[in-house]
Amino acid sequence: MRMYDLILKKRQGNVLTKDEIDWMIREYTDGRIPDYQMSAMMMAICFQGLDKEETYELTMAMAQSGEMLDLSGIKGIKVDKHSTGGVGDKTSLALTPIVASLGIPVAKMSGRGLGHTGGTIDKLESIPGFSTQLTDEQFEEQVNSIGVSIMGQTKNLAPADKLLYALRDVTATVDQISLIASSIMSKKLAAGADAILLDVKTGSGAFMKEKSEAVKLAQEMVDIGKSAGRKMTAVITNMDEPLGMAVGNILEVKEAIDTLKGNGPGDFTELVETLASHMLMLGGVAEKFDDAVSMVRTTIRDGKALAKFKQFVAAQGGDTRYIDHPELFEQAHVIEEIRSEQEGFVEHINAQEIGICSLILGGGRETKDSQIDPSVGLVFSKKVADPVKKGDLLATIYGNEEEKVRQAVKHFKENFHIAKDQLEKPQMIKQVL
Ligand code: URA
Repeated sequence: MRMYDLILKKRQGNVLTKDEIDWMIREYTDGRIPDYQMSAMMMAICFQGLDKEETYELTMAMAQSGEMLDLSGIKGIKVDKHSTGGVGDKTSLALTPIVASLGIPVAKMSGRGLGHTGGTIDKLESIPGFSTQLTDEQFEEQVNSIGVSIMGQTKNLAPADKLLYALRDVTATVDQISLIASSIMSKKLAAGADAILLDVKTGSGAFMKEKSEAVKLAQEMVDIGKSAGRKMTAVITNMDEPLGMAVGNILEVKEAIDTLKGNGPGDFTELVETLASHMLMLGGVAEKFDDAVSMVRTTIRDGKALAKFKQFVAAQGGDTRYIDHPELFEQAHVIEEIRSEQEGFVEHINAQEIGICSLILGGGRETKDSQIDPSVGLVFSKKVADPVKKGDLLATIYGNEEEKVRQAVKHFKENFHIAKDQLEKPQMIKQVL
């Protein structure tokens, strides 16, 4: 086989076979196909697309390019959750103890990643003592005994995707739906769960700005997962404004704790309840959505979800006094309140740019070696559609350097818009597939 022929075949709009895709991914991962030929292939795919079978075969070839986790030593139906990411997304922190308290085993490997705040691992590590460095045996033993464990990613999962994603990133070939679907699903399939819940975000802070695009992406991922024998559900959710009130590592951990205590913000609570309920259905714990929602609300009301979170934190070395007394968490030193200069209703909060405010303050990583400042970020007092009077508090900025706080305040004001006319609260759950 020659890569030249495959590039030409795709460029002319023809369908690649399983053997051709397998060969291409194997040869590329082993360094025998140069980046310039693979870039040409990615560009040809951007123009000609991939059909359903090609997308599935590409996903499987990438998933099988490295280790495939074997979770068979863990009892029960393992349900994984993946979010396409957004600003203020601390969902896993609240979701995992809720479903674990209702009998769904959570065995999660998470990466750190780049972004405006850290990933789940960074947020958990902001709890003093918490360690995500576990051996495979500790990980498995913990899930079997208490039902939940989250560890840092140590395995070489889907290395072909790692190489391809880096190449796509610099050749303007990221935003092709089949390539995104196969990239995400190759990692999820390699991570070994029996069922997968996808939270596909749409709006100004999401990869998919338009709902129709988010639905297409979700459908492709659901199709891939089902073809691979996994149970799948996808929920399309709002990321047109940041999720919840808090953005920033410790601030988000505190908000997740509040939510487990039943005092979380409305939009975040709705998302967590919905996703948890779908996980219960995927895991065979509930048959009907309404029953699942009542189970979720009950486990929160009875304090069982919070107790599970404490048990999980303790099992991984974390100091649970911080869960009972979140005021013990380190506080940023420079605190600036932003107040409204006009009257009206919050019209739009640009989620992506609010993420940049957190980055400016030092809450995220610009390169993979950047250090995160866990105490910085911002907390909203008003969200889209809320009425505002002159002088009302809009948000509080938490930083540790005056100059960075000044820049973040300026950026915030440019991306928080108030209008005269009243508007409707955005819908959190847009569609379920
Ligand atoms: N996230 C991924 O993991 N892959 C993509 O291609 C895009 C977003």
